Amino acid sequence: MSQSFETDLIWIDGELVPWKDAKVHVMTKALHYGTGAFEGIRAYWNEPQLYIFRLTKHIQRLINSEKIYGFNSPLSLEELRSAVIETVKANSIRSDVYIRPLVITGYGPVGLDIRNLKASTIIIIVRMGRYFEKAGISVVVSSWRRLSIQSNPITAKVTGHYTNSVIAKNEALKDGYDDAILLNDRGEVCEGSGENIFMVRDGELATPPISSGTLDGITRSSIIKVARDMGFNVSERSIERSELYSAEELFFVGTAAEVTPIFEVDRRKVGGGTVGPITERMKSKFGLIVRGMDNKYIDWLEPVY
Ligand SMILES: Cc1ncc(COP(=O)(O)O)c(C=O)c1O
Repeated sequence: MSQSFETDLIWIDGELVPWKDAKVHVMTKALHYGTGAFEGIRAYWNEPQLYIFRLTKHIQRLINSEKIYGFNSPLSLEELRSAVIETVKANSIRSDVYIRPLVITGYGPVGLDIRNLKASTIIIIVRMGRYFEKAGISVVVSSWRRLSIQSNPITAKVTGHYTNSVIAKNEALKDGYDDAILLNDRGEVCEGSGENIFMVRDGELATPPISSGTLDGITRSSIIKVARDMGFNVSERSIERSELYSAEELFFVGTAAEVTPIFEVDRRKVGGGTVGPITERMKSKFGLIVRGMDNKYIDWLEPVY
């Protein structure tokens, strides 16, 4: 029986393969060494149109991730963009979905040399509603630190880096929280397990800079732009852990999380412990933008049909 997130067809190296047949060999190097570049992209259905949010920016980041690690993918930005659109159309998508392009170093002998290994490109569409079901979440500052930028090029979004996110997320879940905030190796606030973070203090917004080791999130940069256009001051600056406890508002942003209010951090209420007014404004503005209901940002959307 198929599960609710499944769709019909997966794109693998130019071919549309039925979902159940989309398999790779166990000697695929990416399985052993975490050498897969990937993206997470949302598409929003607003009858009669499906809008892919910032497709080009996501594909550009994918190509940068491949380049940083030296994966040999033959596909150009335009070919990857077309492949995503082809896969969405082939699945006749008429609902909100999450698109997962994945470029993996392929079949080869045991060993770390990937220089001459061909990469495979895979595009998967999954059905996905909200990442967090609740109106606001409870988070904990993780006992695990974010990967150091001196050990890994973490501007690259590659599968191997996500063992760090998985251990932090699952520790938080086991301890009864919804997610974790990871500090960097200097002890500064960095990001969530799969989200960037924003803080409101004195009516202004702050978010850790890219140099903190946070992912250069596409939702993050979109929210910075929109907030500034709305007249807010937004600073990209180092944030101390203790500032989280006196913040007026905190929220996560990301493709999966969209704009998610944080109600509690380390069992301390954030502000009034409900959705703060600035978070609410950013959340509803973002909701309109992604469904093509705000003309100012219409260029961020890729209409499929
Ligand atoms: C570790 C991490 N930080 C932040 C984000 C948010 O980035 P984006 O808004 O580009 O999805 C993600 C999601 O991709 C992530 O995995």
